[in-house]
Amino acid sequence: MDSLLKFITCGSVDDGKSTLIGHMLYDAKLLFTDQEQALKLDSKVGAREGIMDYSLLLDGLMAEREQGITIDVAYRYFTTDHRSFIVADTPGHEEYTRNMAVGASFAELAVILVDASQGVLAQTRRHTRICALMGIQHFVFAINKMDLVDYSEAVFRKCQKDIKILLAECNCKSAALIPVSATEGDNVTTASSRMPWYRGKTILSYLEQIDVSADPSETGFSMPVQRVCRPNADFRGFQGQIESGEIALGDEITVLPSQEKAAVCAIYDGDKLVEKRSAGHAVTIQLDTEIDISRGCVLINGSNAVVNSMFSVTLLWMDDAKLVAGKNYILKLGTQSVPAMVMNIKYKIDVNTGNEVYADAIYKNEIALCEITTGAKLVADRFENNEALGSLILIDRITHTTSACGVIEESIGRGRDLTWHNMDITKQFRQQQLGQQARTIWFTGLSGAGKSTLANEIEKRLAAMGKHTMLLDGDNVRMGLNKNLGFKEADRIENIRRVAEVAKLMNDAGLIVLTSFISPFIRDRKQARDIIGSDFIEIYVNTPLEECEKRDPKGLYASARQGKLDSFTGISSPYEAPEHPDITIDASKYSIEECADIVFEKLKERL
Ligand code: ADX
Repeated sequence: MDSLLKFITCGSVDDGKSTLIGHMLYDAKLLFTDQEQALKLDSKVGAREGIMDYSLLLDGLMAEREQGITIDVAYRYFTTDHRSFIVADTPGHEEYTRNMAVGASFAELAVILVDASQGVLAQTRRHTRICALMGIQHFVFAINKMDLVDYSEAVFRKCQKDIKILLAECNCKSAALIPVSATEGDNVTTASSRMPWYRGKTILSYLEQIDVSADPSETGFSMPVQRVCRPNADFRGFQGQIESGEIALGDEITVLPSQEKAAVCAIYDGDKLVEKRSAGHAVTIQLDTEIDISRGCVLINGSNAVVNSMFSVTLLWMDDAKLVAGKNYILKLGTQSVPAMVMNIKYKIDVNTGNEVYADAIYKNEIALCEITTGAKLVADRFENNEALGSLILIDRITHTTSACGVIEESIGRGRDLTWHNMDITKQFRQQQLGQQARTIWFTGLSGAGKSTLANEIEKRLAAMGKHTMLLDGDNVRMGLNKNLGFKEADRIENIRRVAEVAKLMNDAGLIVLTSFISPFIRDRKQARDIIGSDFIEIYVNTPLEECEKRDPKGLYASARQGKLDSFTGISSPYEAPEHPDITIDASKYSIEECADIVFEKLKERL
C-alpha cells in the first residue's frame, strides 16, 4: 500500500469540513504545542463559548474568503503512525468549482461532507460529480452532525440511499459512508459508542487503511518522452515518467505518432540499471534500433493510446471570457503542445442535477462536452484508461491564461481527413428511375397530436398514386437506430439530427420520406431543413395541448402529470411552434380523412 494518501475535502462553509480535519489533527496529537495553546485561547472567545472549536485550526482559507482575496487551494500535511497524508481544502460554493477541480486533480480520494440534518443536497451531488470528473475513484462520505439528529440510524440510511443513486452515475472503485460528529469527535479518530448500529471504521482509520493504488497490469505501458538524453555519441536515452503499466528489458515498444517499433535494451532509474519499472517511476530507456524520437512522442506497449486530431472532451471552463466555438487555443497534453479549436459544444452539464442541457456558449465554472480538433496529430487516450494521456488544458493564445482543463472521452472520426466521392449513379438518376421528385415531409407537433396517424394516411395515398415512400416514426426509430437516446434536450437534438441525415440519404435514393417526430425545438427543425435542403416540407399538426392530453393515447400525459415521466413535451419540456410552416392542420377539428384531404390537396402542388 502507498504510504502517502492525497485526498481532498469537499463541503460548504457550514458542513464542518475544517472542524473534521481539525479534530483529526488534534486527536491524533498532530499539533505543535503552541498551535494547541492558541486553539484553546481562540476557542474561549469563539462562537462555541469556550468549547474547543477545531475549525479554527484550518481557518486560513476562511480568512481569505472573508477578505475576498484570491481563493485558492490550501494544502495541509500530516503523518500518523500508519500513513502520511496531504489534504487539499477547497471552498465549496459553485463559483469556486474550478478551485475544487484543481484540488481534485491532485487527489486520489475525496472526503465529501454531508450535513446529516440536511441530507444529500445539490451541492453534495456537484462536489461528487466534479471529483469524479477529475478522475477520483475513491470516496468517503462523512455524514456529519450526527449529534444534531440524535445519532439516528434512519437519517443515516436515508443518506446512504441517496448516495447510492448518485454513485451509480460515477465510475468509482470504492465508497464508504461514515456517520460522524466532527465537533463531538464521534467516529473521527475513535469509534463512537453513541451509534452502536454502525460497525465500520472511523474516518482516520479508514483513511489509514484504504488502498488506492492502481493495478499496473490493468493498462498497458505508456511513457510520454520529456527529454532525449545524449551525453555523447554512444548513448541515446529517452527520459520521462512512466504513466501507466510497466516496462521490462526486452519488451517491444511502439513509438507514437510514427508507429515505429523497437525493443528495450536498457532501463535506468537515475544512474542505476534496472530490469523493469512500473507507473510513477521516472526512467531513461535505451532502444535497440535508431529511430527518430523527440520530446512529445509517446512510447507505448499494449496501451490503447491513439493518434488523431479530433476528440470529444469534457471541459471545465475556467476563463472569465466565455468559450467561443471556432476560436483557436493552444492545447497541452502531457509533453505535447498543439494548436486546437473547439468545433462545437454538444451540451453542458448542470453540475447540480447532472442534466445535460443545450448550450451555445460556456461560461466560467461550467462543464460541457465539446468536440475539439487539433492542428497537429495528438497522441492521446481516454481519461478512463490513462490519466496522463487523457487530460489536457487549453491556453488562450493572447493572454496565455489557462482557459480550461478537460478530459478526453473518446477519439472521434477524422472529419478533416475525409473526401467526398462523386458517384456515377446520382440522385437525379434515381429520381428519374422512380419517376418522382424526392421530398421529406416533416410532421411536427405535440405527442398525441395525430402526426403518425396523419403521416400514415398520407403515405397510403402516395403509395396509391404509385409513389415510392418511406415513413420514419418517432417511437419506431427510437426502438432501433436511436435506442441510445432519451428525452433530455441534448438527446432530442441528436435524435432530430440523425433522422434528418437518414431522411436526406433516403431522398438521395429518390424516395419521398415522411417523418413523424415531436421535434419540439425551432433550432433543430431549422437544422433538419439545412441538412435536407429544398426537398424539405414542414407540416405543423397544431392540435391544442388540452385535446392531446384528453386523448392521451399512450397514457403518457397522465404519467407526466403525476411526475413519473421527466421532460415530457408540453408538460415539463417546451414545444416551440413553427413560425412559418408550409402547411398547418389542427387535427382536433376534423376527422382523419378530412385532415388527410386538406393536407394532401396542399402537398400535391409540391410533389
Ligand atoms: S422528439 O422530441 O425527440 O422529437 P420523438 O418524436 O422522437 O421526440 O419521440 C416522441 C415519442 O416518445 C412520444 O410520442 C412518446 O410516445 C414517447 N415519449 C416517451 N417519453 C417522452 C417524453 N418525455 N417526451 C416526449 N415523448 C416521450
